[in-house]
Formats: sequence, structure tokens, C-alpha cells
Amino acid sequence: MTAYAVFAPARVNLVGEHTDYSGGLVLPVAVDLGMTVTGRSDERTIRLRSLAFDDTVELGCDGTPRGTLPGWGRYVAGVARLLHERGRRPVGFDGTIGSTVPIGAGLSSSAALTVSVGLALCRAADFDLPPFELARLAQEAEHVAVGVPCGLMDPVIAILGRRGHALLLDCGTEEHRLVPLPPELVIVVFDSGVRHALEHSGYAARRAELERGLAVLGGRRPSSLRVDEAEAAARAAGLDAVATRRLRHVVAENERVRRCVAALEALEGPDLAELGTVFRESHESLRDDFEVSTPELDLLVDLAYEGGAVAARMTGGGFGGSIVTLVEAGRAPAVVAAVTADYVARTRRRTTGYICTSVDGAGDVEPGARAAETVNVAPGP
Ligand code: GLA
Repeated sequence: MTAYAVFAPARVNLVGEHTDYSGGLVLPVAVDLGMTVTGRSDERTIRLRSLAFDDTVELGCDGTPRGTLPGWGRYVAGVARLLHERGRRPVGFDGTIGSTVPIGAGLSSSAALTVSVGLALCRAADFDLPPFELARLAQEAEHVAVGVPCGLMDPVIAILGRRGHALLLDCGTEEHRLVPLPPELVIVVFDSGVRHALEHSGYAARRAELERGLAVLGGRRPSSLRVDEAEAAARAAGLDAVATRRLRHVVAENERVRRCVAALEALEGPDLAELGTVFRESHESLRDDFEVSTPELDLLVDLAYEGGAVAARMTGGGFGGSIVTLVEAGRAPAVVAAVTADYVARTRRRTTGYICTSVDGAGDVEPGARAAETVNVAPGP
């Protein structure tokens, strides 16, 4: 039987945080951490063994669990069931999944999981879905598997990412274009070591609070407004202070995405000062207005700027996880050394600095490939 091997990358989001589920702008990059599913088609059963957790998920071809599912198995079952509902032929799969994405670190391990599994199951049944349909299916799988009302950003970048580029995506219209990453900058991620589990965090609460804010906009999209216009609408409607802060973050964050793209694409080369300002403002807004940062993330951002990063902010859903930094090429090892040493001294926690390379979105890899071979980790002291 044919062997299949697919890889789906993790992501960092340069800016545009908590904007996707209100139809806003995001600017993620697919990076060389990810999940690899290898295996063969099988007659009746979907059987997937996790190398990370050393356990196995068994499902019927329609996604019906055979036995109790481990946590990650709920995502696999969700993907299999939704693919079955979309008309995938009932072809089984026998394989393994390997991961180099730190779980719960804000780098979208869940979309790497749903997209890699989804693509492998599609391949095994010779079934094809257009990119945005596969992304929506992966998003829905996360909704049904763990009840996290996440947006579209993570599966889309896991599918449509391109080496050397960020993806500017309007989550309202699904319009998107690639934004070249300046070769003079590298992306370095620092994992705070504080784990988040979006299903247990305030993610759904934040989304509900923002909905109250969006309701005062009379159908206008947050990405089409200025902050003063949104604040005026909030005042006129007597919106409460919490929802006003959530709304202010989202409106301002959309504008920061446009500023970040302009700074990256400046004709005379990237505008480093503006990138630093945009990232700093985004982080402060996520800390103060959206309230999804943690003291560890705040500290890492400060240490990154002190250590010489051009730009630094928390990335992903928050409540723990990682920061993303932009660092001048050649300085990355020194910045990693400074930040990891200072962080452990200040918190007694270790941070890992990942010097990331941007990669293409999900696709076939050599059978037998391991995601681990692609990772470039600079461990802390
Ligand atoms: C998580 C979600 C995304 C997005 C980010 C915050 O990663 O899965 O949809 O909302 O948080 O920007």
C-alpha cells in the first residue's frame, strides 16, 4: 500500500492578535516547527500513534472513537468525523504522528495537529479540499473537540504559509497576500514555560466580551474604523468599561497590522524603529486592554528589547505561551543568550529560544521524514 507523509507547520503571528474571530487582519508566518504524520491507508480503521505521548488513537473511518480518547485524540476524531461528513471515502489509515512544536506554547500546536491529520486522511482517500475549506474544517474540529471558539488564522497559515514570507490575511473577506520578510531580520521565539490550555483559559470569555463591543458598531467592521470612532460609538451606546477596552484593542490592532506591513515593505529597507514601536504597542494593548498577557510574557518582552531585539511582543492566544521577536540577522545567538540567562535569573524558570526559519505551508514530505530534523533550537542555560 502507498505510504504517505505530510508535514504541517506551527506559526508565529507577527501582529494582529485576537483579531481573527471578528473578521480582522492578521500577519502570521509558518515556521520550521511542526507535526509530521506518516503512514499507510488501511481498510477499516484510523489508527494513529503519537511519538510524543506514546499512545494510540483508534477510530472508525467516520471518526467514531474505539475506546477512550487521549486529549490529542479528540482533535483527530473531530477531523475524521468532519471529513467523513464532507464526503471523504471510508478509507482507514495506520500511522504515527511526530511533533517538534512545544504544546501549549502559543505556537498553534493544535492547528499543526488538525491540518497534518486532515491532510494525511485526505491523501489516503484521494480526497481533496480547497485550502480555505480544509482550514475551516480544521477550525471546526477544534471547536467540536475542545470547545475553543478559535478563529481561522492558525489553520490558514498552516496551509498557505510560504517560505520567506508572512501572510497578510483579512479574516472577514479571506483576501490574502504574501508579505516578503526582510532578509536582514530573523524571527526568534521565546517560550515563557508557562503553559496555556485555551479551553481552560479566558479565550472564550474574551471573545464574548468583545462581542458586546462589536454590537455597538452597527455592523461596521473593526478593521474599517479608527480608535476614536470606536470609542465614540462605545460612549454613545453606554458600553461597559471591559467591553470598551476589548474593542479598543481590536480596532487599534488592525491598524497596527497595516503599519507593520508598511514597515516591513518600506522601499528603503525595513523600518526597524517603527517595527519596534508597533510590536511594543501591540504587547501593551494585549496586556492592558485585552488582558491576555502574563507577568512572564511581559518580562520576556522587556528582556528581549534590553537584549537587543528590534521588536518583541507576546504571540498567540496568550494566558502563557511565547513571545515573538524580530532580531537583526547575526545578532540572534547573542540575543538568545542574553534573554535566556536573564530570564532564568529573574524567574527561576527556563526559556527556550527558537531561531525560526519561515517555511511553506502543509504538504507532502519524504516518507520516513521526521519533523525533528528541521528544527533549530537554541536551548537556555
Ligand atoms: C489562538 C486562536 C487563533 C487566534 C489567536 C489569537 O491562536 O487559535 O484563532 O484567535 O489565538 O490571535
